[in-house]
Amino acid sequence: MNSEIKIELTEHSKINSVDFDNLPFGSVFSDHMFVCDFKDGQWQNPTVKPYSPITLDPSAKIFHYGQSIFEGMKAYKDADNNVMLFRPLDNCKRLNKSAERMVIPQIPEELFMAGLKKLLEIDNAWIPTNDGSSLYIRPFMFASGNGFHASPANEYKLIIATAPSGAYFAGKVKVLIEEKYARAANGGVGFAKAGGNYAAQFYPTQLAIEKGYNQVIWTDDNTHEYIEEAGAMNIFVRINDTLITSPTSDRILDGITRKSILQIAKDTGIDVEERKITVSEVIAAAQNGSLKEMFGAGTAAVVSPIAGFGYQNKDYDLPELEKPFAAKLKKQITDIQTNKAEDPYGWRV
Ligand code: COI
Repeated sequence: MNSEIKIELTEHSKINSVDFDNLPFGSVFSDHMFVCDFKDGQWQNPTVKPYSPITLDPSAKIFHYGQSIFEGMKAYKDADNNVMLFRPLDNCKRLNKSAERMVIPQIPEELFMAGLKKLLEIDNAWIPTNDGSSLYIRPFMFASGNGFHASPANEYKLIIATAPSGAYFAGKVKVLIEEKYARAANGGVGFAKAGGNYAAQFYPTQLAIEKGYNQVIWTDDNTHEYIEEAGAMNIFVRINDTLITSPTSDRILDGITRKSILQIAKDTGIDVEERKITVSEVIAAAQNGSLKEMFGAGTAAVVSPIAGFGYQNKDYDLPELEKPFAAKLKKQITDIQTNKAEDPYGWRV
């Protein structure tokens, strides 16, 4: 593998056209991207180049068989202009775990990290400093090799693109507990960040939006009795003072925000349980007043409080708390991410 990174700089930076005080999520793109090709059995030609469209053959297997995986990461800048990533190797390892399941070649960690660091060095000015904003990083790998034969491609691309971004959700979300559709099944690809997992959510989510909800709470494919994920996030439920989240499995993404929140919560004395949560337990808790909070957790959404949920044509509101765990945990994790607090875990890079 030739791992020397080639640099091609843009001649027309777009940075002056960006309103950094009003950033949307994931739709304004930085000047450059990192691209690396897998060809002839090896990764080659790592390049940082201007962010631009790519050309693919119409028979490229990504279009037909969906061999495509991605990650979500963020870069932050503190008041002294230090640039920080949060547990970046965990993202690389998870990308490779997804790659294995989707028969995409493993990306060497050194190559991934070197490409990412070079890209952030070059697009350093694109990393926002405003509170609540960050540079959202989207590494993705897909089958660029050609052919209609339903088998893995022999060529792939890794691209890392970045987007200075504000909040993913504007406020609290209202969710619908899903009774019919499922995002994942045992033995399937639910644990992987495969593009198709997200495509499969769009239709049920669209139905939920038509009914006035923002997101779907995914339940297990077999009984729809177990609560598993919240839209594109992991889910936490607080009953009395116990914070509960489903254990990771074939069907549930091993979220980096999820596991960080679990650790921080435990270490700050919150009673935490990693166990299956049933819909009936949540409904009973909502009815007897012991359901205090529900929130989603993910890189893009960070910690996203849930205002209420719908189930079997009935709506349940969550109470407005003075000191919710969600706000406390969100502050603790973002303070570590943005260098406003000590990082006893060594997560900040
Ligand atoms: C993330 O939280 O970064 C994700 O990958 C979810 C995405 C669908 C926005």
